[in-house]
Amino acid sequence: MSIHPDHLPTGQPTVGHRRSFGSLPESEKFGVGVIGLHEGHTLLVALRSSGMCRAVAGCDTEVSKRKYAEEAVPGLFTTADYDEMLAREDVGIVAIYTPDTLHADHIEKAFHAGKHVICTKPLINDPAQATRLLAASRETGMRLQVGQSTRFFEPFLRQREMYEEGAIGLPEVVDAHYNHRMDWYYEKSPWTIEETHWAYLGLSHPVDLVRWYLGPIREVQAVGTTTKLGTRYGARTPDAISVNLIAENGRIGRVLGNYGFHELPKARALIECFVMGSEGSSLARYPDLRFNHHDSNGVEVEEDYRHTMSGYHFRHELVGMHYGEFCNYADYFASKIRSGDPNSPDLAEGLETVMTMRAVVESLESGAPARVQAVPTSTAS
Ligand SMILES: NC(=O)c1ccc[n+]([C@@H]2O[C@H](COP(=O)([O-])OP(=O)(O)OC[C@H]3O[C@@H](n4cnc5c(N)ncnc54)[C@H](O)[C@@H]3O)[C@@H](O)[C@H]2O)c1
Repeated sequence: MSIHPDHLPTGQPTVGHRRSFGSLPESEKFGVGVIGLHEGHTLLVALRSSGMCRAVAGCDTEVSKRKYAEEAVPGLFTTADYDEMLAREDVGIVAIYTPDTLHADHIEKAFHAGKHVICTKPLINDPAQATRLLAASRETGMRLQVGQSTRFFEPFLRQREMYEEGAIGLPEVVDAHYNHRMDWYYEKSPWTIEETHWAYLGLSHPVDLVRWYLGPIREVQAVGTTTKLGTRYGARTPDAISVNLIAENGRIGRVLGNYGFHELPKARALIECFVMGSEGSSLARYPDLRFNHHDSNGVEVEEDYRHTMSGYHFRHELVGMHYGEFCNYADYFASKIRSGDPNSPDLAEGLETVMTMRAVVESLESGAPARVQAVPTSTAS
């Protein structure tokens, strides 16, 4: 069986504790500067558990966000001026959590300031920006980790680990979804209506998962509709999207994203990844942190991390925020920078996923299947 090269984010396996991606003395930890202090605030707090990184700086144009961050992390340097944060020597990694359309500018600037970058999903929502990001990374030698949070929850790490051990054989069909009623998000972040497309904003989770198991995607076929909720908030793009995907290797996947439905959390988790392989199946779920698979006798087994790990992933009674998984990807990335080994998803892989989402938009608009184009490497393409 051949293993797809986008390897597992290895950490020490755990039950009841967090994974460890390594442990550095405080003085050697990577200093992290975060821009965009809403979702980015959770990373600052999550790094309290980090073995590899420490929060040193925060940047946001809103003074209330900066004050909140200063209260959460004593001694944190904060500023409204990104250049001022980039000029700091104690910042080794810049983590970007600004609205989607700003990611490309913020990544490029960080590379040119000599910083490695964590960028939340979606990496970018305009493929035309790919060329300058690849050029900036090449010129500066700086590396990027896409903050694909879903990969870094314990059930999804376990699922990948078992796949890499060969337990499910070759993935033949992958069925992934991210469904989430989004009225609260439209209220909190109106830019989601004006500036982005659900094919990027929401589908980036399940599209990444399908691509992670099947490898590069050749073609997609998408259909979409606008829900009553989407209509109420003036959605400019469909907020319920279903996509069939065909990989380069001929295997197939399916993703669903519905951002206006009435949730049934006992029946369906917000994010699920069902990998159907030649030797077995497995299912990972967020936010209930369950993982189902077959044991060596073909008996279905359920691992339930809700009790043991919700304190790490969620830190309080409300599930759905991002702590442990953000800490996991920061530590994973820092460990790869230190070792010199490749990380995943890196800039090239992240941009391939962006091109897959671009094809989803194209298919939605044309009503026909769309080929996934190569990542543009020059402004002419
Ligand atoms: N699962 C995940 O990993 C996950 C979850 C939610 C959001 N996100 C992503 O995180 C990003 C931010 O989402 P959010 O929900 O926090 O949005 P938000 O609108 O709540 O927060 C964005 C923050 O960026 C700040 N900001 C905007 N422009 C700035 C600038 N030029 N300089 C400094 N600060 C600036 C705003 O003041 C605001 O505090 C988006 O790309 C979103 O897709 C990822």
